[in-house]
Amino acid sequence: MSIQVWDYRKEYAIEREDILAGVDKVFRSGRLILGPSVKAFEERFAAYCGVTHGVGVNSGTDALFLALKALDVGPNDEVITVSNTAIPTVSAIVSTGAVPRFIDIDPDTYLMDVAQLESAITPRTKCVLPVHLFGQCVDMDRVNSVALAHGLKVIEDCAQSHGARQNGKLAGSMSDAAAFSFYPTKILGTFGDGGMVITGDESFATRVRQLRMYGNEGGYYSVEHGYNSRLDEVHAEILLRKIARLDGYIERRRELAARYDEMLLNSGVVLPKVWPGNFHAYYLYVVRHPSRDRIVSKLAEHDIMVNVSYPWPIHKMAGYAYLDQEKGGLPYTEAAAREIFSLPMYPTLSNVEQDFVCETLVNILRNDI
Ligand SMILES: Cc1ncc(COP(=O)(O)O)c(C=O)c1O
Repeated sequence: MSIQVWDYRKEYAIEREDILAGVDKVFRSGRLILGPSVKAFEERFAAYCGVTHGVGVNSGTDALFLALKALDVGPNDEVITVSNTAIPTVSAIVSTGAVPRFIDIDPDTYLMDVAQLESAITPRTKCVLPVHLFGQCVDMDRVNSVALAHGLKVIEDCAQSHGARQNGKLAGSMSDAAAFSFYPTKILGTFGDGGMVITGDESFATRVRQLRMYGNEGGYYSVEHGYNSRLDEVHAEILLRKIARLDGYIERRRELAARYDEMLLNSGVVLPKVWPGNFHAYYLYVVRHPSRDRIVSKLAEHDIMVNVSYPWPIHKMAGYAYLDQEKGGLPYTEAAAREIFSLPMYPTLSNVEQDFVCETLVNILRNDI
């Protein structure tokens, strides 16, 4: 048996007719850019998340970048976030000219340690960017109360948390604005790149709409310097069809997570911890072990692919080493990068395949480590 850490092909086999009908509908419609499918998907996705406005853009990275731009984040500003994240969280901040400031993570959830937020605030801090990593939300009540006390804006990075909830509220609905990615591997993904900014603020949404298209107000008239970052009709139509199945995908992810929890209990790996109040959507099922690299290569010998996200904290990569400014480093972030890995997780992973992953992993932990 050969098992990929992620694979869309079985899902496509099930959904093929529907997806191809959607693609055909767009191709025959005569409208390929910013047409009815984008509008319908923006409305549908925003409503799913419990907010009023959605603006489709061409990636999660651009969703973050344009949301920051629409808050007027730029040179001389600082944005507080984490180094245990995907590179684009940080590249989006850097692209605005602002400086990312990192705080450490909670060692149990690997999410932003909100207790450190207040002490990282300087006169230049403009925004907090919590990342709902792996499918569960950062403690947003605490983020928002600190932000409110200091007059800061908050943008949620929801690229990995479609459908995740905290105390009943959907990821993306708990701040000024949120950025989603529809990259193929995501909980809700298309067959290429896509992203969305969601917000409850109409004028903010209008600004993002202008920024995504050359600062164009309409009628070939630009009101400010802008960009080209549009969600394509074809991807919007595919996503409209997939969003109808989103709750089902999440249910299956949670079922697989519960099976992993059960089969790997007392196996030697540290299992994911879910914060009270969080409904985890399990974009990734992340486990931890000090012999991570050896386990990963042993699993590969059995044709089981796992993922390490992320092997490098952002501040330890050459491209962003200049951001390695915290005295004493970010010990929990750096330790997690050495030890965490994620097991195969996607809705069409079968129970038989998952059993094989667990049996193999348990054997490796018992005999080889
Ligand atoms: C946490 C996080 N933020 C942002 C992004 C950027 O999304 P995209 O790849 O669509 O640009 C990703 C996805 O890679 C991500 O995982």
